[in-house]
Amino acid sequence: MLVLVTGATGFLGRAVVRELQEHHHRVRCLVHTPGNERMFPDRSVEVHYGSVSDPEALAGAFYDVEAVIHLVGIIRKSRNRTYDLINRQGVANVVAAAKEVGVKHFIQVSALGATNDAGYPYLYSKWRGDQEVINSGLSYTILRPSIMFGPGDEFLNTLAGLVRTTPVVPVAGSGRNRFQPIAVADMARCLALTVDREDLKSKTVEIGGPDQLSYNEVISLIARTLGKRRLRLHVPVWMMYIATVILQKVVSRPPVTTDQLKMIAIRNVAETSIVQETFGFTPRPLEGNIEFIRSVGFWDGVKIALGSMPAHLRDH
Ligand SMILES: NC(=O)c1ccc[n+]([C@@H]2O[C@H](COP(=O)([O-])OP(=O)(O)OC[C@H]3O[C@@H](n4cnc5c(N)ncnc54)[C@H](OP(=O)(O)O)[C@@H]3O)[C@@H](O)[C@H]2O)c1
Repeated sequence: MLVLVTGATGFLGRAVVRELQEHHHRVRCLVHTPGNERMFPDRSVEVHYGSVSDPEALAGAFYDVEAVIHLVGIIRKSRNRTYDLINRQGVANVVAAAKEVGVKHFIQVSALGATNDAGYPYLYSKWRGDQEVINSGLSYTILRPSIMFGPGDEFLNTLAGLVRTTPVVPVAGSGRNRFQPIAVADMARCLALTVDREDLKSKTVEIGGPDQLSYNEVISLIARTLGKRRLRLHVPVWMMYIATVILQKVVSRPPVTTDQLKMIAIRNVAETSIVQETFGFTPRPLEGNIEFIRSVGFWDGVKIALGSMPAHLRDH
């Protein structure tokens, strides 16, 4: 089957392309930034350049496409790249192009906690994107993952940078809010398996790994993995919020944004057995699978705090 992957050069996209190839699908990648196709050096994928906000460029990517895995999404907005433009209108544009060629299965990657509550701008935009898919008339499946981890991730590498550089790790609020991290490779496997699953059509599935962990437990695990002893400093969320507002003014790409802080208290867990029950395999736990953070050095931590993710941590 010919599968079009949007966001193919991103953290999840790269893993999805590998997984689709292992499942013997033909893969066409929508590449946003020309040059990023170098991530697929073996030339075994087709490449089409374009932006989800450019319907004309998009249309050309869809000939012969039978399934779409739509991964484009932003968690950091800017003046020209709003959540609505990418996470909602971008979905609408991809949906329209898919309808034009009669795509048989549209697979949308949303986010756990996506909500019809404008008080959480990122999660609201993901929810609105999902509505574009649900109301499209296409056969669709929506997967809503919790936070994903793996080489190249932002979440754990950022926290590892913090643990490396500071003897006392600041935590917003109680740190007891739970996540259900899933390995990016396992999420990619779920997506590749979804392509041929008729029974998952018209369904929205919340996806998480095998363990529900609090933020405090994640910090402790990172410290243990790095062989560091670290104290946690619990800072009231409002105080962290003010600090982040200031940080956003001085650093172009702060390690945490105010929109992310707003989500700190949101439920971010699914059923712990969901992957086994829905896809028939056991996802790997966070513990024992984050050795990649050992390559986060002290100066990497400083660079991350100042707003840039070092290429050796990002490009995998
Ligand atoms: N990472 C997580 O933990 C997590 C958790 C829950 C849900 N999700 C969702 O999973 C999806 C994939 O996330 P990710 O972590 O892989 O994101 P990512 O690493 O930031 O990748 C995003 C991809 O989208 C592309 N892109 C951005 N703007 C585009 C545009 N206007 N037109 C076409 N392509 C564009 C990027 O290409 P360029 O780099 O060239 O711009 C990149 O290939 C997103 O929908 C996200 O909301 C992620």
